[in-house]
Formats: sequence, C-alpha cells, structure tokens
Amino acid sequence: MQVYKEQKQIKAELESFRGEHLSIGFVPTMGALHEGHLALVKEALNQNDKVVVSIFVNPTQFNNAIDLEKYPRTLQDDVALLQTLGEDRVVVYAPTVEDIYGGHIESQQFDFDGLEQEMEGKFRPGHFNGVGTVVKRLFEIVAPHKAYFGKKDFQQLAIIKRLVHKYDIPVQIIGCKIQREPNGLAMSSRNARLTSEQKKAASFIYQTLTTAKAQFVTKSADEVTKWVEQQFSAHEFFELEYFNIADQDTLKPIQRKTRQKSYRAFIAVYADDIRLIDNIGLN
Ligand code: PAJ
Repeated sequence: MQVYKEQKQIKAELESFRGEHLSIGFVPTMGALHEGHLALVKEALNQNDKVVVSIFVNPTQFNNAIDLEKYPRTLQDDVALLQTLGEDRVVVYAPTVEDIYGGHIESQQFDFDGLEQEMEGKFRPGHFNGVGTVVKRLFEIVAPHKAYFGKKDFQQLAIIKRLVHKYDIPVQIIGCKIQREPNGLAMSSRNARLTSEQKKAASFIYQTLTTAKAQFVTKSADEVTKWVEQQFSAHEFFELEYFNIADQDTLKPIQRKTRQKSYRAFIAVYADDIRLIDNIGLN
C-alpha cells in the first residue's frame, strides 16, 4: 500500500488517476484506525475507483494540549489494518504538520451560520475552525469526487456540508452510520485509552441514549434532559459534560416539539480525562 508523506507526491499520483478518468473517494482521519473508520473506507471503495485515506493528527482542532499530546499515533498499525481490506485501490496520505501548515500552524476563522456555536463548539472553543481549516486544505490537495464522514461526529458532518456549500467546493459529502462495539459504545480512537472496566461500563452511555429516545415519544425535551442528568449524577465512572436534544438541521436546542422537524440527542461525557461523544436520531 502506497503511503505518501508529501502532498507533492500524492498530487502527482492523483493526477494520473484523473488522467484515466478514475473516480476518487476520500476518507479524512486522524489515525488510530478502528472498524468505524474502516466502514467509511469500505463505503468509499463501493462507490469509487480509488480511495485516499488521510491520517493526520491536526493540531489546530485540539483546544486541549494534553488531549493533543495523548492522542494515539499508530501509523504502522493503521496501514496494517487498511491492508486487511485486501484492496490495492487504497492510497494513504500521512503528511507532517509542516506539509499541511508550512510554518503557520493557525486556523482560518469560519462562519458556519451558527452551527459552530452549539455543543462541541461551546465546549471546545476553536475546534471547528481547526477542523474547517484542515478539511478545506485536504480537499484542495486531494480534490476528491466524494468524501466520507461519520455521523458519530454529527455536528462535524453538518459543518463540513456547510463548508463545501459556502466555498463552492466540488465534492459530494456522504454521511455514514455510527459503528458501535457489541455493548453499544460508539467506536472511537479515544476508546483505546479506557481501562477495560471503563469500557465495559461505557455501555451505559448508549443505553441512556436509547432510553432517552424511547422517553422522548411521550415526554418533553426538558423532562428527558433532566432524567439523563440524573442518571449521570454521581455516576461511578462518567461525568456528564452535556446532553442536548436539538433540531437535526440547525443543531439548535429544541424549543417546542413539532412533527415536521427531525430531532437528535447529543451527549458528551468524561471518563477521567477521556472525552467521549455520541448521538442518536429521535424520530
Ligand atoms: P477521526 O476522529 O479520526 O474520524 C475520522 C472519521 O471517522 C470522521 O468522519 C468520524 O466521524 C468517523 N468515525 C469515527 N468513529 C466512527 C464511528 N464509530 N462510526 C462511524 N464513523 C466514525 O473526525 C476526525 O478524525 C477529524 O476531525 C478530521 C475530520 C479527520 C479532521 O481532522
């Protein structure tokens, strides 16, 4: 499997694909790959002739220096996992910070029409400017026909759709369903840092989401939110950062339930210093 470290090299390879009129799918990641990422790659392989997987721990999207430092970096294992797909149509782009940012490790400032102000935007200041900066740059380098993002990061997916719309970037954004461990825990690179006890206990997060969904049929968003907060108060392993029921399109907290709108519940919890997020569609 080809692993390119420099944009110059991968651009040359991609030029030759385009010369042969091959379609290019793109899966941006920060590595520490797991089955959630692989599901995106498989979807991309189903829909494109070639697939580029980028592996880059993007410094500008971390608002917490310790989180950035502790983020797992496992390039060899990542390539080995991609090789298990038995596909010679996958190309890896694993650039250095220098290759992406030159000397200026800085975020562009974006206006995503308020999508960036909610939830993750509130608790991770600057995060979506960092995500927008790197994804826009990666789109310029790879110039894919289609790009694949997980609904695990539902707010990010919404923001990327807004980004390509605002900047007229000719790429189709495909949202892919959340992949879970058998106990319901949403797969995440950060799960590798959980103790086996925490990992087992983390089934509680998804269980709470599914119960919240069931409750939302007859109860108000406020009632459900209070119930969730109660479940987490004094929990042995998890500290709740936020639980929110929001309009799926605007990501704004629900005002009044109406039948025409789609709602989604979003959650962020800490297990020690490990931050986990998840979400579920409510109707
Ligand atoms: P990362 O967390 O590595 O995730 C890369 C992609 O995999 C994202 O689109 C994410 O939503 C998806 N993904 C992760 N876990 C998933 C799961 N359990 N099920 C389905 N999809 C899952 O998200 C990022 O990296 C970065 O912000 C990035 C977009 C690469 C920009 O740096």
